[in-house]
Amino acid sequence: MGSLSGRVVLITGAGRGIGREEALYFAAEGAKVVVNDPGVAPDGSGGDRAVAAAVVKEITARGGAAVANTDSVSDFDGARRVVEAAVDAFGDLHVVINNAAVHRDAPLVGVTEDAFDAVVAVKLKGTFAVSHWAARHWRARWESGDRVDRAIINTSSGSGLLNPLPAHSNYAAANAGVAALTVVNALELGRYGVRVNCLSPSMARTRLTATVPGMGQIPEEGAFDPLHPGVCAPVAAYLAAEDCPMTGQVLSVRGGSVAINQGWSRGAQIAKDDAPWTVAELRTALAELPRDDVFDSLGTALGGALGSGGRDKLQQMINALLDR
Ligand SMILES: NC(=O)c1ccc[n+]([C@@H]2O[C@H](COP(=O)([O-])OP(=O)(O)OC[C@H]3O[C@@H](n4cnc5c(N)ncnc54)[C@H](O)[C@@H]3O)[C@@H](O)[C@H]2O)c1
Repeated sequence: MGSLSGRVVLITGAGRGIGREEALYFAAEGAKVVVNDPGVAPDGSGGDRAVAAAVVKEITARGGAAVANTDSVSDFDGARRVVEAAVDAFGDLHVVINNAAVHRDAPLVGVTEDAFDAVVAVKLKGTFAVSHWAARHWRARWESGDRVDRAIINTSSGSGLLNPLPAHSNYAAANAGVAALTVVNALELGRYGVRVNCLSPSMARTRLTATVPGMGQIPEEGAFDPLHPGVCAPVAAYLAAEDCPMTGQVLSVRGGSVAINQGWSRGAQIAKDDAPWTVAELRTALAELPRDDVFDSLGTALGGALGSGGRDKLQQMINALLDR
């Protein structure tokens, strides 16, 4: 019997990349899987119903249980239909993995309203919408006396959490929002037996990262492949298991490393209790406090890729990225 035997799991964007690997892994562990994916292009255009169907075929050919759904999670009613698809096919829903995303990278000065909205609609609104409809189902089950462990696993990104990248206003903002939803929803849904956590993948070989330097490196047959899109699946399965104690956590996964993140935290401070600060006082007092430099943070994240050259080299890289 697999570790997820009998669990009904809905995975958004499960037709390709990380979501597809999660669907295959969960099915192999005995879960009944709803493979949601409209089969769109990386920028969200078009659609191909065969993408979700192919994953279902792969799962059922191996003796697993799966159904396809091609609704868009950015459509509020579509998100409701995704949740209904799980209940209709398998009688209940235990786990939601919000994984779907699209990319429309552009500098702030050039990004269109449409490109901003499209990315936020899939990543942030889609996570909210599917979670909302699942939570309503779970509240009803809880109120009817059902006491079963339920879980939401959101998907964020280092772009938005740890190392925001230039040209990612839409994507980084949406991913930071997903992390915020995770902790808020964990607080709200605990009373219905629902745990809410989040994965933040990094450097997984999918079509979204195809142009990132080094992604083409394939290790020798049988060797561990840290860039494989399947490295997140066991971590998701751990978070989805009935006996998992975690809630409200955001875990970064990169190759074989899994880190529990600590979010925005209060840094050095100044305080007075006898009067409001004046601008002149603030100018002096705040200047003395230690603080992070956003350019240094990006430089550290890029590590070896930056080489020597410091801030000037970093600025040149940012300019090149934005002028592309
Ligand atoms: N690949 C990485 O290294 C990496 C790094 C950080 C974060 N992530 C995150 O991991 C997740 C998966 O990314 P991936 O690299 O596998 O991308 P991918 O493009 O391979 O897969 C994403 C899937 O989402 C689907 N999708 C798009 N819009 C949808 C919608 N409206 N409704 C339902 N499905 C929709 C697409 O059709 C696609 O099959 C994303 O949330 C992404 O932000 C990935």
